[in-house]
Amino acid sequence: MTPSATGSDVSSVGGGLTGEAAASPAGPLEPTALNGLPTPPRIPLPRLAQSLRFNQRQIEFVFRARRELGEVFQMHGATEDAVVVTSHPDHVRSLFTASPEQAPSLTGESPLRPIVGPDSVLTAVGPRHMRQRKLLLPPFHGEAIEAYTQMIFAATERELDSWPLGKPFALAPRMQAITLDVIMAGIFGIEGKPRRGTPEHGLRQLIRRLVAASTRPEAQITELLHIGRDEAIGPMKAGLALLDRQVFAVIEGRRRARDLDERRDVLSLLLQARTEEGEALSDKELRDELLVLVLAGHETTANSLAWAWERLVRAPDAHEALRDAVRSGTRAEERIEATIVEAMRSRPVIPLIGRRVTVPWRLGDYAVPAGTAITMSILLVHHREDLYPQPFEFRPERWIGRKPGTYEWIPFGGGIRRCLGAALAMAEQRVVLEAMARRLDLEADDPAPERALHRNVTMIPARGGRVVLRSRRD
Ligand code: HEM
Repeated sequence: MTPSATGSDVSSVGGGLTGEAAASPAGPLEPTALNGLPTPPRIPLPRLAQSLRFNQRQIEFVFRARRELGEVFQMHGATEDAVVVTSHPDHVRSLFTASPEQAPSLTGESPLRPIVGPDSVLTAVGPRHMRQRKLLLPPFHGEAIEAYTQMIFAATERELDSWPLGKPFALAPRMQAITLDVIMAGIFGIEGKPRRGTPEHGLRQLIRRLVAASTRPEAQITELLHIGRDEAIGPMKAGLALLDRQVFAVIEGRRRARDLDERRDVLSLLLQARTEEGEALSDKELRDELLVLVLAGHETTANSLAWAWERLVRAPDAHEALRDAVRSGTRAEERIEATIVEAMRSRPVIPLIGRRVTVPWRLGDYAVPAGTAITMSILLVHHREDLYPQPFEFRPERWIGRKPGTYEWIPFGGGIRRCLGAALAMAEQRVVLEAMARRLDLEADDPAPERALHRNVTMIPARGGRVVLRSRRD
């Protein structure tokens, strides 16, 4: 480990637990009782100050709260109620394995709700969620994803060929170009660059614009204005109307395609899918699900890759070990996997996920009443000293011969709300990381680690993962 791989905002805040992970009882309590247990301590700051600090410096904020208040505490975000934050794997297990009636997901309150509506697989809760999830699962199974590998590979090689030599550039937008290609091909069946004037071309352009708009600083204001709404307002509404026209045109065209039953893209599969009751999805339902997949799937994967390289170019040992393994073919798969898992541990793109309990819930020494939003800090779980010795060091070796634990390594969440695109995201990261390590010699443009920036529900490298490409192999 070299000094340059430490000292980021995550690394420098430090603090945390030591020793063995002690068991911590958690789960539903009798409907009327908190069993005499106290509610978790509150962060002693005015609401607005908490909200601002959480938005601006979430990392320092949650690490400090854990250091000062322990592993369960209450904080105020942008909404009226306080939310409880926990980082104990037993608490995580209790929420991931709870019935959807007792602990529905907080994604129902997601900032994507005004865009994708309340009935999509991401935003629906209860039976509606299960119905949509069952319909969407088949195209995201490991085997179905295998079929995409070649396409991911081609999109990656095309992109790598165009990167400038010797000049610093940000990786995140380049990664986004790859993941957008992959999502457009995998979800809509649109491969390569579509012809101008076609609905496919219009759709691609509008999706790029929508994603670009959602990562600008003003997006946080838009997000605040949309809290609790089922429909977009203002400029967002106008933008979505344009996008919808193209989405519906693409759906209509595909419905009439002669080769529909031979196609493997998600849209074609969904057009033919039927629920247990034999119902097909309406165009509006299709539109909602397709947008969820594009919005949830492409920026997350791109930034996860950008973080992986932000770490690698500052951890020469890990970087060299990866390049050696890939270039010599010696235990390359194992090394690639360990590198991705470690990058997602140390920089989870979604740092916080939650459930709103409908009955009182025990969290170790504390209890919370029915109706409380409990969030699991992925970032804090991933930096527990008892689970990950020297948690602030980037050490892929810790994963050699060790499998990530279901309640300890949770970048994709868990239970019946676990990320639907996890297999696709992992496949993309494997292919891109391998190609980059094989062909490119990259360096950091600045030895100082990049800060984390918070956009919507994601945590992204503040400078987009800036690197300098020293040489490229063909
Ligand atoms: C590295 C990339 C990704 C990360 C870190 C990530 C992370 C997550 C997380 C944390 C959740 C919430 C889980 C929970 O509450 O327990 C989630 C849900 C979801 N993700 Fe991903 N995701 C990624 C890529 C993708 C991709 C590629 C797709 C699709 C193409 C996708 C589609 C979804 C969907 C549909 C849900 C909602 C699932 C449900 O509620 O049943 N994600 N993701």
